[in-house]
Amino acid sequence: SSPLRVGIAGLGTVGASVIRLLERQAASLAASTGRTISLAAVSARDRAKERGIDMKGAQWFDDPVALAQAPGIDLFVELMGGDEGPAREAVEAALKAGKSVVTANKALLAKHGMALAKLAEEKRVALAFEASVAGGIPIVKTLREGLAGNQIGRVYGILNGTCNYILSRMELEKMSFDDCLREAQRLGYAEADPTFDIGGFDTAHKLAILTSLAFGVAVDAEAIHIEGIQSITLEDLTAADDLGYRIKLLGVAQRTPEGIEQRVHPTMVAKTSAIAQVMGVTNAVTIDADAVKELTLVGPGAGGDATASAVVADIADIARGIRSAPFGLPVAALEKAPRRAMQRHEGGYYIRLS
Ligand code: NDP
Ligand code: HSE
Repeated sequence: SSPLRVGIAGLGTVGASVIRLLERQAASLAASTGRTISLAAVSARDRAKERGIDMKGAQWFDDPVALAQAPGIDLFVELMGGDEGPAREAVEAALKAGKSVVTANKALLAKHGMALAKLAEEKRVALAFEASVAGGIPIVKTLREGLAGNQIGRVYGILNGTCNYILSRMELEKMSFDDCLREAQRLGYAEADPTFDIGGFDTAHKLAILTSLAFGVAVDAEAIHIEGIQSITLEDLTAADDLGYRIKLLGVAQRTPEGIEQRVHPTMVAKTSAIAQVMGVTNAVTIDADAVKELTLVGPGAGGDATASAVVADIADIARGIRSAPFGLPVAALEKAPRRAMQRHEGGYYIRLS
């Protein structure tokens, strides 16, 4: 059958890794999907920048929105970031032009996920975002397809690689917060504006996506209680250690008698617990559900290759003709579901995890 012609906007940490991975796995992807995946077009801000990647003569676009609707592409991959501006405009333009979209952009999905999913539904195209939550961990497909036979009671975990990396290195190597953050930026883990990471907002964006998938409700990042790690000091980590605890930034979404509660905050977890063993850029997501009981996925939460793994999995699905409802249910059903997510949370830093 005909090749799948891919256009990629954003050639930074993730975009460059996706291009390398598509090249490295070209033969096995063609065998498993039955189609050649060809890089047809690319876009970034600076055409002259040396990126160390072979773009295979792909057509260059200065304007990502023009790329998104170009007749020469079948699939638009958005890896620029940002919840407005070119990312939003390009994704909307691609969907309106009847092209499937793959994105790693959790900020965009947390704000506009329902509107974009509705557009994809109307145009009968795919909107895929495995890479948007927990980097290389296939948590979106796990919740949407793998656990379809379950009623989920709670989903929680470490959803930001940068924060876990900072807390781990501060604790283990007594490095300063600022040095750890600089290193996370150098390694390509942090957001363009790292306030999203350390302020807990990135975790909240991811949690909002997981909540929608787990509980069949509309994405609602506004209704999340958010505290970040910016005020955590070495003294806090040492004091927790003395008491037998580690401090982790957790995102937690759970059913309560009042509705779905969503919260993001630094949490003291017993050093003997499984989640306390998750160190560095690694993420972990635990799901409590009626049939499977407890399921935990652990893996790299950020970085070029790990994130590219998830982006390429979505590209492969689209090459195979798979088109799932982005958030598992039709948008109308998600929007009808009662949720009453919490607006305020009075509690402290401890929550019972078992
Ligand atoms: P980078 O900052 O490394 O790369 C961003 C890319 O987008 C650059 O190539 C940049 O161009 C391009 N870009 C930015 N603005 C524009 C614009 N206005 N027009 C055209 N191109 C533009 O980001 P990452 O690769 O780290 O992240 C990309 C996306 O993936 C974000 O949504 C992020 O949240 C998400 N993500 C990142 C992960 C990670 O570990 N890094 C993990 C999971 C998701 P130029 O190079 O010319 O400056
Ligand atoms: N900045 C994000 C993190 C990238 O550190 O987890 C992965 O989504």
